Amino acid sequence: MSTPGPEFFHATDRAQTARPLAQEFRTAYGTDPEGVWSAPGRVNLIGEHVDYTGGLCLPLALPHRTFVALRPRTDGVVRVRSLQEPSGVVEVPLAEVGAGSPQGWAAYVAGVPWALLQNGFEGLALTGGFDALVDGHVPYGSGLSSSAALECAVAVALGELVELPLDDTGRAGLASACQLAENVVAGANTGGMDQAASLRCHEGGAILLDTDDDSVTQVALDLAGAGLALLVVDTRAEHSHAGGEYGKRRADVERAAELLGVANLRAVDPAALDAALERLGTEPDGEVLVRRVRHAVTEIDRVRRTADLLQTGRADEVGPLLDASHDSLRDDYEVSCRELDLTVDTARAHGALGARMTGGGFGGSAIALVAAERVEEVAGAVAAAFAEQGLAAPRFLTALPSEGAARDL
Ligand code: GLA
Repeated sequence: MSTPGPEFFHATDRAQTARPLAQEFRTAYGTDPEGVWSAPGRVNLIGEHVDYTGGLCLPLALPHRTFVALRPRTDGVVRVRSLQEPSGVVEVPLAEVGAGSPQGWAAYVAGVPWALLQNGFEGLALTGGFDALVDGHVPYGSGLSSSAALECAVAVALGELVELPLDDTGRAGLASACQLAENVVAGANTGGMDQAASLRCHEGGAILLDTDDDSVTQVALDLAGAGLALLVVDTRAEHSHAGGEYGKRRADVERAAELLGVANLRAVDPAALDAALERLGTEPDGEVLVRRVRHAVTEIDRVRRTADLLQTGRADEVGPLLDASHDSLRDDYEVSCRELDLTVDTARAHGALGARMTGGGFGGSAIALVAAERVEEVAGAVAAAFAEQGLAAPRFLTALPSEGAARDL
């Protein structure tokens, strides 16, 4: 009996998605939208679980995007529908938006004007409300930031309507508002990597994001030129306790920083790591804190080294750093899971230069850096390994570094 080949999740053509969405908007709301905007999901090459402790990360925008057709209103009401949510229209007066309200996916839409106002932005497009129709093409629930893509598509639309310059500074402001919406309105206490990637990435590169000062350096990522491809594997593993575990990891590093007397773990020099670990080892829960800090400090260092290699045209040498990142996330930070480990081990066994889990962990996606001509082979091997262990079939995509949030129509 032959098993079906690996399933690839391809990105949609932007113009061909935006035009019908504008038509659907007219059907849903009876008028034309002001425009259609979209924002990408992201995959992080390296620098995991360090964006809430002043660390460095190196994400890129995926070609998979979430589209929003939008038209401003003047009565302070947000109405939103999604082609992926058959439940119909969600209607929220802006006056009722705040911590934990609205609940569900509408938080990622209505939270954005709320957060922009909180952060001092002004304009009728923020106070007057809007009608929106969403069409999401970032794989949902796969750790590739479909929620950030939704926030950022709304943010870039509103940013343009209030005539914010959409240079990197303007985009940094939008990204921090989107993070605020996620933290407060949606109630997920995440760092700012996902929103920065979705808004601040350029086609053809990753960003070296410094979460200590919010600066971004564009890093060219010509994998195809190096004969390589970045294979993303959505393990489709459920991660039911992920929210709580994420919060616990954050609390661990915050406590460790406090014990070490530093603002965040970025301030721990890799050369001084052993001394810091020795100091933490004397605490009652020191054994856990030692491992958390060792992950954060070594991971930040790996990001620096990866960026150096990419900036000097040596993309084919980053594999061991990806491998070390995964091992550290699995053993010291304890955010991996069986499906992620299986993906990484199988990809490595089939010739990947390096592989690691990516994103928050406990399920979601892994990446493998592979020779371009071996993408199908590695994907096939991972799919076969999952089938052999009785796991649900994973899904695949290749990550081509794509443009950040922008207007489509
Ligand atoms: C999630 C969060 C990010 C980041 C990653 C881990 O994706 O949203 O802020 O913390 O996990 O690197």
